[in-house]
Amino acid sequence: MLLKADHRHLYPIAFNRIRERFLAYVATFMDTDSTCRAHILLKRNHSLRVSSLAGLVGRCIRLDNGDITLAKIIGLLHDVGRFEQFARYRTFNDHVSIDHGSYGAELLVDHPMLRDLDAETRDIIRCAVVHHNKAALPPGLDARRHLHGRLIRDADKLDILKVLTDDLNHPTYHFIGPIKTPDVSPEVLESLRQKRVIRYQDVQSDADAVLIKLAWVYDFNFAPSLAILRRRDYLSTFKDLLPQTEALQAAFQQIDAHIDEALERPDGALTGAIAD
Ligand SMILES: [Fe+2]
Repeated sequence: MLLKADHRHLYPIAFNRIRERFLAYVATFMDTDSTCRAHILLKRNHSLRVSSLAGLVGRCIRLDNGDITLAKIIGLLHDVGRFEQFARYRTFNDHVSIDHGSYGAELLVDHPMLRDLDAETRDIIRCAVVHHNKAALPPGLDARRHLHGRLIRDADKLDILKVLTDDLNHPTYHFIGPIKTPDVSPEVLESLRQKRVIRYQDVQSDADAVLIKLAWVYDFNFAPSLAILRRRDYLSTFKDLLPQTEALQAAFQQIDAHIDEALERPDGALTGAIAD
């Protein structure tokens, strides 16, 4: 049975099937050593949580059931390129291996995982997957591609912040270590002052690398995402790691004020967040 755009009430059935196929696909990467298994499990569990988060934010911004389910499917599959990436290159670092967003979108072309969905829906999913890890969405996307592109970027960032926070509180994978180089580069401070995301090429110290995560607040697209971020208190662990200088205190206050303003806005969508 092929699901078309006007059969959105059937999407929940499709989601359950896609989830089963996704888990079966991931299981094919588990038959290896324990380090590999730990990394595959990390991404599998991240994908399942991002799927739930995308559905949650989708409900908060009052999407219909079809788009909520589509958001959950995209959440589940956004990192589908990660498994092959780790199996082949033993790293999640795109710079020394492959771009996992682009690879994931390629993998989904005609993949049996999506065989219940019509071509347009499959294309929306692939569009969200390819752009989820890029600096920004490209201009000119139609309304549904724009919506799902923004939604997956929020849900993904929320769970990455959770994973990093857990790691800092109960070190397991050591994504972020103690800050050995605490100086903040002028370009990073300027990005913070301008309420902009920090570019990777501006990172020169451990402190800069942590500040990239804090500056993500300026790249969230929906107020409910920031409400979740605040409720789960994902930023304070990062703040506590950093030197408590006057300039950074001002940056922290600005970040808090940005979240306050977003939560006071009635429409739930943010307009001021700009990525390079
Ligand atoms: Fe990703």
